[in-house]
Amino acid sequence: MIVYKSPREIETMREAGRVARLALDAARAMVKPGVSTLDIDAEVERVIRAHGATPEFKGYHGYPASSCISVNEQVVHGIPSGRRLKEGDIVGIDVGARLKGYVGDNAATICVGKVTAEARRLVETTRECLEAAVEMCVPGKKLSDVGRAVQSLAEARGFTLVREYSGHGIGTRMHEDPSVPNYVDAATLKRDLVFREGLCIAIEPMLNAGAADVRTLDDDWTVVTQDGSLSAHWEDTIAITKDGPMVLTRV
Ligand code: MF3
Ligand code: CO
Repeated sequence: MIVYKSPREIETMREAGRVARLALDAARAMVKPGVSTLDIDAEVERVIRAHGATPEFKGYHGYPASSCISVNEQVVHGIPSGRRLKEGDIVGIDVGARLKGYVGDNAATICVGKVTAEARRLVETTRECLEAAVEMCVPGKKLSDVGRAVQSLAEARGFTLVREYSGHGIGTRMHEDPSVPNYVDAATLKRDLVFREGLCIAIEPMLNAGAADVRTLDDDWTVVTQDGSLSAHWEDTIAITKDGPMVLTRV
């Protein structure tokens, strides 16, 4: 069931999204060689709570931290640990905040110092996929237009798309209907949806440099590429309004 939001609710979601963005920005600012992912997570939690919000991920299906931090071949849902970042890594940071009953969800992949040209191209392409998808968030466009925007750009650049995980509707719960796939196929076209005002979704492309296949580590959370190739992930929370896309996770 899709829950459409009123302009008032969207304003509240923007407040939640702003906190998620501030926490993500604080995390990004910490990224440098030698910093542990647990240090970054502590700062994420501090910033979220400093704004009177709560970290939405903590305790979500038993998840133990306030952020997901996924390094190199880790796709999503990496658990913060004592692991220290090093020059050449790419690090995905995913943050969710709940404020006044609504959730904002966003992620970015950051280069640690100097990375290979291929790694940078993967990170930049994934960000561009997100941007292209956001442009589709206008009344009258369809869910499949989001998937097509992501898939066509990713594949044109020679990257593959993770299919096991998708974006999602978002509101009073982090994961609401509809699911927002990053690709189109017969099944997604069959349950396609025409966008209308008040729909709020999190779009989150995940691109691999190698094969698309992923698996989950023994910690039951960390998703990695099966072939060990690099992966990147970007995410924003967006409201579809009569004036077009409103990115809620923006300061
Ligand atoms: N942004 C992710 C998502 O939308 C993060 C959820 S991680 C969890 O699924 F720990 F909260 F589960
Ligand atoms: Co999400």
